Amino acid sequence: MNLQRIVVIGAGTMGSGIAQWFAQQMCSVELVDNSQDQLHKALVVIHTSWDKLVEKEKLTSCQVNQMKKLLEVKSLDQVSKKADLVIEAIIENLQIKKDLFQKLDQDFSPSTIIASNTSSFPITLMSEAVSPERKQRFVGLHFFNPATIMKLVEVIKGEHTDATLCSQLYQWFDSKDKKPALCKDSPGFIVNRVARNFYGEPLRIVELDDEAKMKEVDKILKEVGGFKMGPFELMDLIGIDVNYSVTCSVWKAYHQEPRFAPHSLQKKMVEEKRFGRKSKRGFYKYD
Ligand code: NAI
Repeated sequence: MNLQRIVVIGAGTMGSGIAQWFAQQMCSVELVDNSQDQLHKALVVIHTSWDKLVEKEKLTSCQVNQMKKLLEVKSLDQVSKKADLVIEAIIENLQIKKDLFQKLDQDFSPSTIIASNTSSFPITLMSEAVSPERKQRFVGLHFFNPATIMKLVEVIKGEHTDATLCSQLYQWFDSKDKKPALCKDSPGFIVNRVARNFYGEPLRIVELDDEAKMKEVDKILKEVGGFKMGPFELMDLIGIDVNYSVTCSVWKAYHQEPRFAPHSLQKKMVEEKRFGRKSKRGFYKYD
């Protein structure tokens, strides 16, 4: 498998990290978003991150100059329709994603692989938006945040996805120093299913919007549990809006099992636009 021309759609937390990682693999990357402002922000964040890596001598300025040339920001109409791989990393909303996949299916070459970075929607369900031929080249590629650092990539086979394509993707990521895992198309796949309780139980422990208690829970899970981040810190990193959508989607998919139930505090925070680090206010405040 030769993945050279990549289109990433959605330049938020995940899309910008995924685009950066692919450019670091020396792939040519076209990054798209329906917000010009977000595209501009993403490019500044990626370039700043690369410049810092040069300062720390983790990359050379020659490598970074090349990466900067490889990564371009564009509108969807401007991108090359002959990409090897298109990765969707837009808002976690099933209908909006399906509308996008329908357009991508029509616009892109039949050989293009279309992948979703969804955290929770079934790949088979989303593939209803594309033609029967494309369904074989429609797959889940679930990266973790931050995508440049986290090694795991869940490769999710939908009912119609070509099994050989999944194996080839697995091998490709393996050869690029990621740790791929082949997953069944079940709600939340592996990590987001297990992690529901890592978020849900701490929310039920603190009950109220009490920062001191949250700090205490985060501290205990890091110091005693050995986790790198506490659950409240992690939810702020993920994005409260994204995490709430994923919680609702997994809960519904498991027929509203109480152990997956969303917490009223998540809903309240979304309504108050306390989205976590990206809005500078989540469970904690950020400058
Ligand atoms: P985000 O809210 O940071 O970014 C989403 C971006 O998509 C925004 O910049 C928005 O302008 C853009 N967008 C929305 N609709 C669009 C459209 N129709 N066309 C083009 N751009 C559009 O969200 P985030 O966190 O990056 O999540 C994106 C996807 O990745 C979601 O499906 C989420 O479940 C998944 N994910 C999120 C993780 C996280 O830790 N935040 C981890 C792994 C997966």
